[in-house]
Amino acid sequence: MAEVVIVDSKEAAGSLVATEIVELLDARADAVLGLATGSTPLPVYEALRVQLAGRDLSQVRGFALDEYVGIDPQHPESYRSVITREVVEPLGLDPRRIHVPNGAMETIQHAGDDYEAAIAAAGGVDLQILGIGTDGHIGFNEPGSSFASQTRVKTLTAQTREDNARFFDSIDDVPMHCITQGLGTILKARHLVLLAFGEGKAEAVAAAVEGPLTASLPGSAIQLHPHATVVVDEAAASRL
Ligand code: GLP
Repeated sequence: MAEVVIVDSKEAAGSLVATEIVELLDARADAVLGLATGSTPLPVYEALRVQLAGRDLSQVRGFALDEYVGIDPQHPESYRSVITREVVEPLGLDPRRIHVPNGAMETIQHAGDDYEAAIAAAGGVDLQILGIGTDGHIGFNEPGSSFASQTRVKTLTAQTREDNARFFDSIDDVPMHCITQGLGTILKARHLVLLAFGEGKAEAVAAAVEGPLTASLPGSAIQLHPHATVVVDEAAASRL
């Protein structure tokens, strides 16, 4: 079972996970981080900014979990833009070492295989940061995703499009498709750190940590991982 750590606040969670990442970077300046978008990982990035202030991070490598398909990479809500704004710029990372799946229509046929090859060439992900959707998705692996799945195109569920509509002018602007690391891809990372905050995530967290292993709840895949840590606040832990 995953190791569960209950903390007082998002800030405490951020600083705990950031400390783990700093240790990783102390051991290897070119460690490979698995980056996630959404609001949940923001306290980790903020704590990293503080804990790593003044450090040369130009060797750090990173792979984002997912991207919308058909969105202009310059769009402020493309995950390329989000990762640039929230992680690359504040931490002073080298953008050439930080990868985001390519959601461009022209190359979408082989974008998944290309991304898998890039992760493999980097030697795999050392520490993967994860959030969880209210329907239990991780990355954009919606319910029904195979535990063996690799990076590929998926259709977003209505619920995820509604959840993410707040980032766009209207729900009609939320893309229909995404490209996401598969559950099989995520499980290859050497350490998984799943964060969740608030009552709205309590059900998904309980199902991921204690529920049956099922493709209906993609987050339950973390139970298959030998080194998974779940960092939650009291509210998100309330159904455990
Ligand atoms: C999106 C992302 C996920 C993220 C989820 C939860 O769908 N693709 O990686 O975990 O949203 O978002 P939030 O952290 O904002 O609740």
